[in-house]
Amino acid sequence: MAISTRAIEPGDLTLVTQVLTGSWGGTTVVALGRGEVIDAAALPGFVAFDGDELAGVVTYAYKEGAVEVITIDAVLSGRGVGAALLDAVKAMAVELGAGKLWLSTTNDNTHALRFYQRYGFDLVALHRHGVDRARKLKPAIPLESDGIPIRHELELELALEAAGSAP
Ligand SMILES: CC(C)(COP(=O)(O)OP(=O)(O)OC[C@H]1O[C@@H](n2cnc3c(N)ncnc32)[C@H](O)[C@@H]1OP(=O)(O)O)[C@@H](O)C(=O)NCCC(=O)NCCS
Repeated sequence: MAISTRAIEPGDLTLVTQVLTGSWGGTTVVALGRGEVIDAAALPGFVAFDGDELAGVVTYAYKEGAVEVITIDAVLSGRGVGAALLDAVKAMAVELGAGKLWLSTTNDNTHALRFYQRYGFDLVALHRHGVDRARKLKPAIPLESDGIPIRHELELELALEAAGSAP
């Protein structure tokens, strides 16, 4: 079954909360790039479905001509859900006239790092001890994952062509 996506609607709050809580222990996340605590469930975004089944959620924020992916979670990995969610945000960002899509991930998240780079994102910055700073705002951020200390943030971006611009 193909993965479909649509914009998050107010009635999706319970589903979105479930997915965010499953991945991040709640809907509150620290937007790594900004050192800001955000309720991701209040953000715009997209939900993905595999048939009738919820397959994933992405949330984003539009600021200063750029769209930041705040959270992205595939309920089932490796089925094209992550790519479908990024496609939806990218199309929205182009529609908004954003110059780039950007996001941050953590040093331990080698799967996400691989996924983003294969999608077309490029690494633009390393914020050393960014997660240590974020942990002061959200103490529940784990100290390690798969034996890797979680300390640093990696920032990636994808340049966008404005809608209607020449190829
Ligand atoms: C990172 C994450 C969003 C990626 O999403 P995903 O749905 O696994 O990504 P995709 O399925 O689109 O792509 C992963 C792979 O599956 C492959 N794939 C896509 N559609 C497929 C299909 N129908 N059948 C088999 N494989 C498929 C892709 O080609 C890709 O292959 P590759 O690894 O060889 O490049 C997901 O793993 C996730 O939610 N992780 C946990 C939360 C997280 O870390 N979020 C990021 C925080 S910064």
